[in-house]
Amino acid sequence: NDYDLLVVGSANADLVIGVERRPGPGETVLGSDLAVHPGGKGGNQAVAAARLGARTALLARVGDDAHGRLLLDAQRAAGVDTVGVLVGGAPTGVALITVDPSGDNSIVVSPGANGRLTPDDIRAAVSLFHASRVVSAQLEIPLETVVEVVRNLPPDSRFVLNPSPPRPLPTEVLAACDPLIVNEHEAKVLLGDARVSEEPEDWARLLLAKGPRSVVVTLGAAGALVASSDGVARVPSVKVEAVDTTGAGDAFTAALAWRLGAGEPLAEAAAYAARVGAVAVTRAGAQESYPTAAEVAAL
Ligand code: RIB
Ligand code: NA
Repeated sequence: NDYDLLVVGSANADLVIGVERRPGPGETVLGSDLAVHPGGKGGNQAVAAARLGARTALLARVGDDAHGRLLLDAQRAAGVDTVGVLVGGAPTGVALITVDPSGDNSIVVSPGANGRLTPDDIRAAVSLFHASRVVSAQLEIPLETVVEVVRNLPPDSRFVLNPSPPRPLPTEVLAACDPLIVNEHEAKVLLGDARVSEEPEDWARLLLAKGPRSVVVTLGAAGALVASSDGVARVPSVKVEAVDTTGAGDAFTAALAWRLGAGEPLAEAAAYAARVGAVAVTRAGAQESYPTAAEVAAL
């Protein structure tokens, strides 16, 4: 394979303001100076994997504008192959992000060009799929585009999905996931009325019953759960001081996808991914906060 990981997904300019607390309706609060960071769940995954040493390609769409150039530069600087990044059709996606003193964030995304990544774009990039060991996706691009991704997976490749932001998924997409990676919020949305318990172990089992070959439930500081036909197992996390959790889940997903592609068992790959995510929350921003493999080893 030419690539360890092909990421299909979104690229956003993250406009970030630190706040003491978020404003309510009709309210104005003052925040920090504005910071502009390269982001987007797809762009973040690609940079995270490349920073760890994975041979990585990104299939995405940005606008023909300054934000688009910023995002392409960030991908290339991290060593991501941007041959699959299409330009034009709408303004580059933007994420308006507030970060509070506990490091938690709230995000509003304007998809822009991400919303113009079409099933045709996927079919035109089929050679990238055949050159990649693992393909990962998220849901900041149209769902019909993600459906086309799973239809174009070569038989010997592996598909990893973080359904964020969450919405109900067609059976065809669920069945391709190995694993489906969700946090608590995403698990609850995907399970909808079927959620009968507050136990993450139960969510993992119920999600697995929807058809994915495996499921990972991330639990922040409490680590993660992995579920497959082998059963459900808990994966520990590393205790760190959170500065900015933005994009930590994207780093987790990318690291997991890469380790799985290298042949690691699910629980071990998830434990490694948890360490990658832990480093990412100790630093500001998304892509800028992602560690090298040496930094993960030193944790
Ligand atoms: O997961 C974090 C990302 O979500 C941010 O980089 C932002 O762009 C939004 O897509
Ligand atoms: Na971070």
